[in-house]
Amino acid sequence: MMGATPRRRTRRRPWREAMEGTAQLTRNQAQVAYRDVRRTTLGLCEPLEIEDHVVQSMPDASPPKWHLGHTTWFFETFILAEFVPGYRPVHSLYRVLFNSYYVTVGERHPRPERGLLSRPSLGEVLDYRHRVDESILELLATMQAGFHPEIVRRLVLGLHHEQQHQELLLMDTKHLFSVNPLRPAYQRAPAASRAAATNQRWVEFPGGVHEFGHAGDGFAYDNEMPRHRVVLEPFALASRCVTNGEYLEFMADGGYERPELWLYDGWGTVEHAGWRAPLYWERIDADWHQFTLGGLRRVDPAEPVVHLSFFEADAYARWRECRLPSEFEWEQAAGALPRRGNFQESGTLHPVPASGTGLEHIFGNVWELTRSDYAPYPGYRPLQGALGEYNGKFMSGQLVQRGGSCLTPASHIRATYRNFFYPHQRWNFQGVRLARDVREG
Ligand SMILES: [Fe+2]
Repeated sequence: MMGATPRRRTRRRPWREAMEGTAQLTRNQAQVAYRDVRRTTLGLCEPLEIEDHVVQSMPDASPPKWHLGHTTWFFETFILAEFVPGYRPVHSLYRVLFNSYYVTVGERHPRPERGLLSRPSLGEVLDYRHRVDESILELLATMQAGFHPEIVRRLVLGLHHEQQHQELLLMDTKHLFSVNPLRPAYQRAPAASRAAATNQRWVEFPGGVHEFGHAGDGFAYDNEMPRHRVVLEPFALASRCVTNGEYLEFMADGGYERPELWLYDGWGTVEHAGWRAPLYWERIDADWHQFTLGGLRRVDPAEPVVHLSFFEADAYARWRECRLPSEFEWEQAAGALPRRGNFQESGTLHPVPASGTGLEHIFGNVWELTRSDYAPYPGYRPLQGALGEYNGKFMSGQLVQRGGSCLTPASHIRATYRNFFYPHQRWNFQGVRLARDVREG
């Protein structure tokens, strides 16, 4: 519904440490974490009408009702069906309808046809969630002392999976509303910033052999491991991300009309798709506007530009005689910094301008596009069984983004976290922090 109040949940969740370190997870923390993540997903659906839950606006996006069912299916399939003796699924066909891409689990309903599922109704999907929640919480309550480590591992994986879908649900809702001529608003528009963007400075880093990837007991996806060495040449990163104002200069300089600035595949996409601006931008009279989860608003030149494809970010960087960072340069810069930033909990659901000094908003706000291929680290091993399909099989033709966005839950992100999308995709909340080489001596 329009005009809903943005959520502001800034309290630190007591289970946050538990989500980040499975080894320390107690029974109580597991129950609290499960309830909290599942409740948060339902809270994100509160501003939606029943009709909003059903529709699919493009093959890449899924209806909110499907996200609600699929995240539930994950717990039912990978925990209840495997660890509860004699467990009977809530519905035999949900195994097909809500299976996303797990080929070894079995048949799947075609992804582009998720929006055709008027049944099960929203009420039936919510009932499915409720019944699976009861079974999971009962399993946690009755598990023997010592806590079955594999159940705990899968529970935490399922919670991080659900947090990923919270972000997708908001991304997909934004896309859904953007194609509706009524331009519905998911929530009240965030206040326009009054400040100009801070000046962009360069922060230099020395070269050398460094270690990257996740180590230790805490939770991480398999694609963040193993920790391994990479050689970096000296480099510099921009103190903040590229702003709308700066991107407007690129557009005004014919950025979308100059093939020499673009990768071959990027220029092909510009010609084919007719791109002239970032996704969700539209020109009304003389002014550029952008559609947000708070509705249509004038483009704010101080805010970071968001919803660029890798191709657009790469062309912009070339125009500025810079380049995109590698994912390791990004991790080298962010690894020692506190994970503070504009995350889902702030309720803005929109990036905010940089305001301080240092590497501004390196976490949160917008995912930062890198030019690194989404590839396995040396020695990579996917999880055993069907869950091995979670990440590894997507390591072809995609690029890595780092740091999380204003839609990402704060407890979901890490310095080693690797997000991935195809180079033409733009509906992820992603922007660009420039990099450049530094000559020694
Ligand atoms: Fe999923």
